[in-house]
Amino acid sequence: MVAVAILAAGKGTRMKSTLPKVLHQLGGRSLVERVLDSCQGLQPERQLVIVGYQGEAVKTQLAHRPAVEFVDQTQQLGTGHAIQQLLTHLAGYQGDLLVLNGDAPLLRAETLEKLLLTHQSHQNEATLLTANLPNPKGYGRVFCNGDNHVTQIVEDRDCNDAQRQNHRINAGIYCFNWPKLAAALPQLRANNDQQEYYLTDVVHFLNPVMAVDVADASEINGINDRKQLAAAYEILQDRIKDDWMAAGVTLIHPDSITIDDTVQLSPDVVIEPHTHLRGQTMIGSGCRIGPHSLIENSQLGERVTAMFSVITDAQIGSETRIGPYAHLRGDVTVGESCRIGNFVEVKKTTIGAQTNVAHLTYLGDAHLGDRVNVGAGTITANYDGVKKHQTVIGSGTKTGANSVFVAPVVLGESVTVAAGSVVTNDVPNYALVIARQRQRIIEDWQKA
Ligand code: UD1
Ligand code: CA
Repeated sequence: MVAVAILAAGKGTRMKSTLPKVLHQLGGRSLVERVLDSCQGLQPERQLVIVGYQGEAVKTQLAHRPAVEFVDQTQQLGTGHAIQQLLTHLAGYQGDLLVLNGDAPLLRAETLEKLLLTHQSHQNEATLLTANLPNPKGYGRVFCNGDNHVTQIVEDRDCNDAQRQNHRINAGIYCFNWPKLAAALPQLRANNDQQEYYLTDVVHFLNPVMAVDVADASEINGINDRKQLAAAYEILQDRIKDDWMAAGVTLIHPDSITIDDTVQLSPDVVIEPHTHLRGQTMIGSGCRIGPHSLIENSQLGERVTAMFSVITDAQIGSETRIGPYAHLRGDVTVGESCRIGNFVEVKKTTIGAQTNVAHLTYLGDAHLGDRVNVGAGTITANYDGVKKHQTVIGSGTKTGANSVFVAPVVLGESVTVAAGSVVTNDVPNYALVIARQRQRIIEDWQKA
């Protein structure tokens, strides 16, 4: 039985931002959301987020998570004071409490599982995550007397010279036996350099307290400024890319590629340089994406290619070729074996299988059947200045170069549209439509 509390009341002065620190985005999610996500595997019974500075903004941003409870810490008098605010919320609770920092978003789920397991199997009253850092400046130092049993934790600024030589640091991630912690919290005193109530001082009232070293020290990196935010992004990206390469994805020049951790790839996908994959994107086996493409919240079948293109909120069938320089956006569905070529924009449109839209075209609010051939320069005029209207183009239809469809308009199946037509009325199946002025020739217009 475990409850989770996340410290998120601080301002984060060094971010130099109007946004509270924990709401800054890292790879598509805020810091505090990442911390919440990292502990979902533990199936916490309670999820408490301690808020203070711009607490309302934090609450609003997390409103879509109904399981999260908010605890107000109106004055920030230290980490111990923050946890004291839980006393009323967790009155009578008998389980363990995991305490996480809202600004440490790189923790792996496995690390938290290991911490909890150690805590429970040793029946510790407290277990904390530690690391040996080459440069431990700024961190509290953890002192143990063999068997990883903690005797005290001393903040960097409260250390004497000898204590400062200890490089074993407190990551600020703890597991507590809640009833024991609840009994210790009222005994904290603010008798230190910062006049704060330190959570770390509870080790004097608990026994046994054990330290567990984290295998990968980068996991405990806290974010205090923009530079650390950028460094965290790099670490996250390296992890994601290493995992996908191990799973059979080829990344050409990985440093120029970014992949959100919400993206799903398949074996034998090839990602070319300067390509960015974001959100709920899924890419099927054998796809070749890039160079220079951005794909967001889109699902691609197998063996799709997309080069120099931007694709958002789209579903693309297998074997379809996209780009260079195509833009698909906002609720687009493209069937199998289609061709969406250069300088083509497609918005809120469905396209059947084996349809070609090869050059210089805008399709908006349209529905195209199978085996349609869209001539170069075809435009759906979907907007009358007030409302958007639909264009329907039946299977097997061929639109001539530079045709304009003034929506709402329906073209049947196997229609032939003469080049340069401005089509304003519906056209039946198998018809030829010519909607332009007949060519006139006036001879001898100039003297020979
Ligand atoms: C704390 C630990 C230190 C550890 C370090 C790891 C204490 C006394 N020290 O120090 O041993 O090495 O974390 O990062 O705990 N917060 C609140 N309310 C408060 C004070 C802080 O919510 O009243 C939040 C902050 O927003 C932050 C977290 O708690 O997310 C840590 O607080 P901070 O003051 O940064 O602690 P450190 O000085 O880094
Ligand atoms: Ca502090």
